[in-house]
Amino acid sequence: MWDFAGRDTAIDLGSATVRMHVRDRGVVAREPSLLARCLHTGKILALGLPAQEMAGRNPDVRLVRPIREGAPTETDEAEYLMRALVRTHHRRRYTARPRLVVTVPSGMSSVHYRALQFSAFQAGARRLTLVPTPIAAAIGMGLTSSGRPEVVVVADIGADITDVGVISFGGLVTSHTALVGGSSLDRAIVALVRREHKVRISPASAEAAKLEVGAVPPIGRRPLRQTVVHGRDLTTGMPRGIVLTTADVARAIAAPVGEIVGAIQQGLAGCGPEISGELLGVGITLTGGTARLPGLDRLIRERTGLAARIGDDTGDAAVIGAADVLRSSGSQEPPARRSSPRPHLLTTVPEG
Ligand SMILES: Nc1ncnc2c1ncn2[C@@H]1O[C@H](COP(=O)(O)OP(=O)(O)OP(=O)(O)O)[C@@H](O)[C@H]1O
Ligand SMILES: [Mg+2]
Repeated sequence: MWDFAGRDTAIDLGSATVRMHVRDRGVVAREPSLLARCLHTGKILALGLPAQEMAGRNPDVRLVRPIREGAPTETDEAEYLMRALVRTHHRRRYTARPRLVVTVPSGMSSVHYRALQFSAFQAGARRLTLVPTPIAAAIGMGLTSSGRPEVVVVADIGADITDVGVISFGGLVTSHTALVGGSSLDRAIVALVRREHKVRISPASAEAAKLEVGAVPPIGRRPLRQTVVHGRDLTTGMPRGIVLTTADVARAIAAPVGEIVGAIQQGLAGCGPEISGELLGVGITLTGGTARLPGLDRLIRERTGLAARIGDDTGDAAVIGAADVLRSSGSQEPPARRSSPRPHLLTTVPEG
């Protein structure tokens, strides 16, 4: 078959959102990480937003999350996701075989690593580079490059994962990945409403309430806001609306918020004494959607003693940084027809 190289492509396979960057075009896709599968035939019918809409209306469709905890759950689903995105955003749709760079949690297991490798080559990758999320996010925010000796600390707080990396000379000095993030907060809100009101709400309603009125305790002088969530009364089986205030949400999420901060502390604790001393002057840059939770940066500052600042582009930083990795690795590569048998795991930023 005719192979067409296709433009360099970066993918951030997030547990909540999958993002794709195509060289010279920028970020071309930000889709919910969701697939709609037909219950009868098992065929995948749609991905992203159309999948979400289909599942709300079509009883024959089951929603599938192809990425959990930052890794593919089933190789065929991750493959579908990547192939569909590559085809949609490359002009020679069916033959595009781009160089692909994919962000991965820094603590990814070798099983997930192999599953991702398989899916990416099946999806058409000609060459695959895997970049740990903290490095990708640091590059994306312009904080690091190969020649720069200064220490950079990045904590990417996403939906399923908090990934903390300490980077120096463009390489990962130490990192820590914890399975806690925005979806843990959503689950905690579901549990509180169930416990205190005997009403079952969906994680999606809990997430909406979090985005509307959520904040990290203590909420201090923050104006008390409220929202209504709808669910099913566990006693009567009838639909019911519950009012949730900022204080209710803050109370619900206190424990998982503590786990997020604990994960960051653990990440920092992995540093040797030479670097540890420098961290106070360096501070932490926060990326990922959950970094925007009001008050989280303050709590991280209080608990770690390090200045925590929220990156300007918390969502896209990792995929933009991943794209930069391919740009700086230049055009030395095998011809389009020859796939590399092994992926390349990047631990240090290439020379620009
Ligand atoms: N303003 C906000 N306040 C609080 N949480 C937010 C805000 N915006 C987004 N989030 C949360 O951020 C999470 C999504 O973040 P992100 O897109 O970084 O995750 P992801 O990359 O898909 O997941 P992961 O990196 O864990 O695999 C969701 O849980 C969402 O509810
Ligand atoms: Mg992410």
